[in-house]
Amino acid sequence: MSSQRSTTTDAAWRRLHEAATAPYKKAGNFAWHFARGKLGRDPVFRGLVERGLIGESHQRVVDIGCGQGLFASLLSAMAAMQSRAGHWPSAWPMTPAAADYTGIELMPKDVARAENSIGHLQPAPRFVCADMCTAAMPACDLVVILDVLHYVDHAAQEGVLRRVHGALQPGGRLLLRVGDMASRRGFAISQWVDRTVTRIRGHRVSPTWGRPLTDWMALLQGIGFSVRSMPMSEGTPFANVLLVADRREPA
Ligand SMILES: C[S@@+](CC[C@H](N)C(=O)[O-])C[C@H]1O[C@@H](n2cnc3c(N)ncnc32)[C@H](O)[C@@H]1O
Repeated sequence: MSSQRSTTTDAAWRRLHEAATAPYKKAGNFAWHFARGKLGRDPVFRGLVERGLIGESHQRVVDIGCGQGLFASLLSAMAAMQSRAGHWPSAWPMTPAAADYTGIELMPKDVARAENSIGHLQPAPRFVCADMCTAAMPACDLVVILDVLHYVDHAAQEGVLRRVHGALQPGGRLLLRVGDMASRRGFAISQWVDRTVTRIRGHRVSPTWGRPLTDWMALLQGIGFSVRSMPMSEGTPFANVLLVADRREPA
């Protein structure tokens, strides 16, 4: 990447960061600082944008374990930036102009923070307070599951992934970030951090269920996805991997 291009994209990312996190101010300090820290430090969000993994045509988006809906806010900030001539870096692929977003989240407090912060956006994001293992899965083009599946056991993980596959329409994509259990040190660190954050947020701390990367890939392929993986924990001590799983079309 030339330094000219990276300066332009760095500046654009700073503006996106500001625009996507500002709405959380009105939900209080915790919501705002959490949004700023997460979007600023977790490489997955900028990685999705820069690598063009969201896809302009993936209009109907389901975000499972959406927390306070940061991805919805980012989608909206990106659409706004793209609508203003000369603001979107030419190096970045386009994202949906008006995403139809549904977030599914177990914790009522997170759903309340999401609604209080970004419920006013247009098109309005929908937030469903439900367990992903049983929640209705609307027909969609893109499903995002970032750091969520390890909260349920292996059978439940497979159940969610099968229902996601069933909900995805032709050309649909699942973006799934998981920890690679084969990278023992990074996986152990992320489990420790996860449990600590869960406790601080006042949630019941449950055991977590991981798999080695090869098992995740085999599971997705068996369900009917074409899968590629990319490391997605740059700048962090974790062993996180992003799986880009495209719904395989019948031959
Ligand atoms: C580590 S956070 C990730 C949040 C968000 N995906 C992100 O990357 O910013 C995991 C989220 O999954 C939610 N979650 C855990 N188990 C769930 C379930 N069974 N159904 C729906 N959401 C769940 C948690 O409440 C939490 O908000």
